[in-house]
Amino acid sequence: MTTTPSPTPTPTVLWLSAHPEPRSLTASLRVSGIAHLRAAGHEVIESDLYAMGWDPVLRGEGISAQGERFDPTADVRRALVEGRLPEDVRREQAKLTAANALVVQFPLWWYGLPAILKGWMDRVLVSGFAFGTDPRTGRRLRFEDGPFRGKRVLTALTLGDRPRAIGPRGKSGQLEELLFGLLHGTFAYTGMDVLPPFAVPSADRVDEEAFTRAQAALHVRLDGLLTDPALPYRPQFRGDYTEEWELAPHVRPGEEGLSVHLVHEEERDPSHAL
Ligand SMILES: Cc1cc2nc3c(=O)[nH]c(=O)nc-3n(C[C@H](O)[C@H](O)[C@H](O)COP(=O)(O)O)c2cc1C
Repeated sequence: MTTTPSPTPTPTVLWLSAHPEPRSLTASLRVSGIAHLRAAGHEVIESDLYAMGWDPVLRGEGISAQGERFDPTADVRRALVEGRLPEDVRREQAKLTAANALVVQFPLWWYGLPAILKGWMDRVLVSGFAFGTDPRTGRRLRFEDGPFRGKRVLTALTLGDRPRAIGPRGKSGQLEELLFGLLHGTFAYTGMDVLPPFAVPSADRVDEEAFTRAQAALHVRLDGLLTDPALPYRPQFRGDYTEEWELAPHVRPGEEGLSVHLVHEEERDPSHAL
């Protein structure tokens, strides 16, 4: 009897984006990137936050009892466990659960996320779903034990700064360090494999030629969405950190700065240990 191999499941990508203007550079790259992924056989689900009219504000109303002191972690967790989270939040959590990979795309505003996107993080990535402990098993949900292990994330942004301003000696700080809170504090914290970010600098002066270049560069990064190496952030619970969440004294002694949280090439080379 011959058996037909079961088809490889189509990878699902959640494209999460925030821009108020459909004719912006961000929106044009979104349309082009999604078409590229679909042409390559990916299923793409979208959360275009402005277009959805997403409410970014985390509030106690409807979550904690009237007049009670609102605890944004514990009360929201209880609402998750009791199935009382707002419908819009549950819909976004279901999209995230279904996704093998995420593209998180935005213009850099005040060196951070547009408020509408920050509010997606605040309302969707709740305790018991994205961090904390698993409500059923009590298991820790963080970093290498995070709930989104196996999901990959590509951060794609536009920014006004010139290319060298986000380089190693740039005035804005090197891009991966500038985005450390998002890449490490949010994405790696929840267990994702974090790809090096994709940025289009000098984004306020993009002519047709520069757009074509940016689009092609984005497509290359999308082609590697499921295969490109992730940033080698250190595991948190295998001896690299103390109980105070400081790098252990034996790890890169004397070194400081955000790059110490990456496993360096020579640490991975077994000959180095000899
Ligand atoms: C509210 C606001 C804040 C901004 N903050 C920054 C910033 O912190 N750093 C930067 O390089 N550009 C900043 N910019 C410039 C935008 O990043 C830039 O206009 C955008 O990426 C252009 O792409 P778009 O056409 O998709 O909006 C800011 C723009 C606005 C409107």
